[in-house]
Amino acid sequence: MSELKSVTNDGHTLAPMADFVKQANLNLEQVKALRLKAETNYTDFWGELALEHIDWHKPFSQILDETNAPFYTWFADGQLNVSYNCLDRQVLTQPHKTAIIFESDSGIVNTISYKELLVQVCKFANGLKQLGVKKGDRVVIYMPHSIEGVVAMQACARIGAIHSVVFAGFSAKALADRIADTEACYLITADSSNRGGKKLPLKTVVDEALLILATKSRIKNIIVHKRSDEYCYCEEGRDIWWHDLINNQPDTCEPEIIDSEHPLFILYTSGSTGAPKGVQHSSAGYLLGTILSMRWVFDIKPNDIFWCTADVGWITGHSYVCYGPLAVGATQIIFEGTPTYPDAGRFWKIIERHRVSIFYTAPTALRALIKIDASLPEQFDLSSLRLLGSVGEPINPEAWRWYYEVIGKKRCPIVDTWWQTETGSIMLSPIPGVTPMKPGSCCSPIPGIMADIMDESGNPVERNNSGSLIIKRPFPSQMRTIWNNPQRYLKTYFPKEVGNGEYYVVGDSAHLDNDGYFWILGRMDDVINVSGHRLGTMEIESALVAHPRIAEAAVVSKPHEIKGEAIVAFIVCKGSLRPIGAEAKELAEELRLWIAKEIGPIAKPDEIRFGDNLPKTRSGKIMRRLLRSIAREEEITQDVSTLENPAILEQLKQKEY
Ligand code: WT7
Repeated sequence: MSELKSVTNDGHTLAPMADFVKQANLNLEQVKALRLKAETNYTDFWGELALEHIDWHKPFSQILDETNAPFYTWFADGQLNVSYNCLDRQVLTQPHKTAIIFESDSGIVNTISYKELLVQVCKFANGLKQLGVKKGDRVVIYMPHSIEGVVAMQACARIGAIHSVVFAGFSAKALADRIADTEACYLITADSSNRGGKKLPLKTVVDEALLILATKSRIKNIIVHKRSDEYCYCEEGRDIWWHDLINNQPDTCEPEIIDSEHPLFILYTSGSTGAPKGVQHSSAGYLLGTILSMRWVFDIKPNDIFWCTADVGWITGHSYVCYGPLAVGATQIIFEGTPTYPDAGRFWKIIERHRVSIFYTAPTALRALIKIDASLPEQFDLSSLRLLGSVGEPINPEAWRWYYEVIGKKRCPIVDTWWQTETGSIMLSPIPGVTPMKPGSCCSPIPGIMADIMDESGNPVERNNSGSLIIKRPFPSQMRTIWNNPQRYLKTYFPKEVGNGEYYVVGDSAHLDNDGYFWILGRMDDVINVSGHRLGTMEIESALVAHPRIAEAAVVSKPHEIKGEAIVAFIVCKGSLRPIGAEAKELAEELRLWIAKEIGPIAKPDEIRFGDNLPKTRSGKIMRRLLRSIAREEEITQDVSTLENPAILEQLKQKEY
């Protein structure tokens, strides 16, 4: 075992461990060569990797097309099938290898080999075809984190249907919005899901969503996977059981030949306006990004047991559950439940039970487990672990050290991976075995990614000064557009002020330290990161003002020990008088439930404060920075001279219940 070794003055850098270096997929020389190649011949760099890592039905002749920048295309005249690359090509060489080890909420384990998974995907794909699903059709998936969730996604990929997975924690209203925006005609769900000992009635939520949509719904069929023995409402002619659909279907299904740029999926994520954005991804470029990061960042090997804890409803579950691990022929864990059920040892128990070697989770989960019992992991055999990963938000150095020492026993490198729904795959991360790590820094862009920090006008920012994180060159796995809204794509990500629209502006602020390491500070837009999940303040505000008693709402964030950020809502009720005491408490609770219904439980505000008004400028603009200070209980040091109603600040500082 190698020692903690300081290689910079701050004493916080950890050199790669010798044992890991010996077996790593990449060594320093190779990383240098990759970086040099990317710098000297950017398109060939990607072209060669695409040929090496993807099985093409028809190889491409052009690598990158920038004619309609920033609507870039990659490998455009090439043809492939993503599901073929994930399944068939594994079956050719290792049909009986376990693809997925599924552990249910209650601890029941099911495993499925690559061959069996391919059969399931083919049967289901044939079922979809029988219903009339065609290439390019949108299929909404509202499923528990499960093997069937992956089967549904892979089946869509097989026939060229565009899936749009909606996280099963989202409300009927949020689901309805997404169904409407995709104009989907088919929906795949389950009767219920089990998480943390609780049953969630998914089909009921789906039925409600269709009621909300009413005549605007184009849904022809709902396919329902049976997860429980309880009664489930079925609408004759519309709703079909999953098992009935696949019954008697042939167990092979020719993969549809797909152009590289054919959309693989749409995934909604929050932005600065009220409406979530339908992030549209390509087929080939996206697949390439997930494969390379599996190899370079997760150092995947044939004998690994890979476990990414993210739900398939998020981008992390798309790239590092559904596509990446299968495309490299890995064995992975899918765990249906939560980290704290039946107790806070659940993650460690799963690692011990299935001999997990690569573990990828979010800082918020680590912080929650540290808080419950930081020494609990010592009761488990975690010796199978060899690499740890973190994603979703900055990992604080304390949590990083605990992860490193208590979970990884100082043997396992930690890859702090920065990326987004929009980038499709990991952008910034240490290369394990090569990059010396700094706790709390996602280190540097992986080979081929050209990142920098700039000010709002596109000028370079000096070291140690914060600025806007940007990616300077197009890359294969990036989003292609916002579904149905190319203008919003241009405006949000390629603002004219920054390098004349040439750069991808990611929306995070960050700084570079003296060693060239990136430190992510947080979002620059009106997006709050709660437990690694993105929520738009506008989205929550519009849900609040939809409540019959609410006139105005402003939502800001404050730091939270476990969740990273917590939501604080400032509310003005209709009819001027603000509620106080028990009435305020009651209304606050009602509003929390309302938000859970409008968006989902993750968007429930932690704190709700009522006022007769909100702090506004004379032109009527809400001064959110003041609200942020109030929420954080900080002294207000900002200039309040433009404030129309300074007295309101005192009122909002009071907690009324
Ligand atoms: C936002 C993207 C990428 C999958 C999960 C979230 C924040 C993500 C890190 C990290 C610091 C991070 C950023 C980013 N973020 N990873 N390692 N360190 N911040 O995907 O919902 O699209 O959110 O999450 O702010 O912009 P997402």
